[in-house]
Amino acid sequence: MSILPIVKYPEPVLMERSSEVDKITDDLRSFISDMEDTLYASEGVGLAAVQVNKPIRIFVIDPTFAGGTEEDDTIIFINPEIIHTEGEVREEEGCLSFPGVFVPIKRFKKCTVKATDLNGNEFTMEGTGLLSRAFQHETDHLNGKLIIDHIGPLKKKLALRRLQIQ
Ligand code: CO
Repeated sequence: MSILPIVKYPEPVLMERSSEVDKITDDLRSFISDMEDTLYASEGVGLAAVQVNKPIRIFVIDPTFAGGTEEDDTIIFINPEIIHTEGEVREEEGCLSFPGVFVPIKRFKKCTVKATDLNGNEFTMEGTGLLSRAFQHETDHLNGKLIIDHIGPLKKKLALRRLQIQ
């Protein structure tokens, strides 16, 4: 078990497009297990691999936000893709890479993600509310897109002023 350091803005790796995962190796499984430990320790909804300095297309989601309980395993999404969206809703959103910053972002109310699991099997999962928001937020990370890229220059300046550099 290890908790990895979370990369904070403005580290350049956060702006990179993460690359596809082509093979699920033991090393990758062990890295994902560290991501799960890191997510629980940080009390976030989700965590993308790039946020622990590995720009590959993986994110993990806390099961309690997907209708599960704390005893359930973290949900792992390898090479995820949003395949369906519905509705729109604007709400405040934060990010573990921007401690203390919350900005209003318009997201799809509902979305469906297709991904590969740890055994190499494809699955789809539908999310509404916070889960839908997390799917879109984490998918953005894999494309190098951050919460401040959703707001205008003035709001961005104000948001960054609130950024607590740790
Ligand atoms: Co984030």
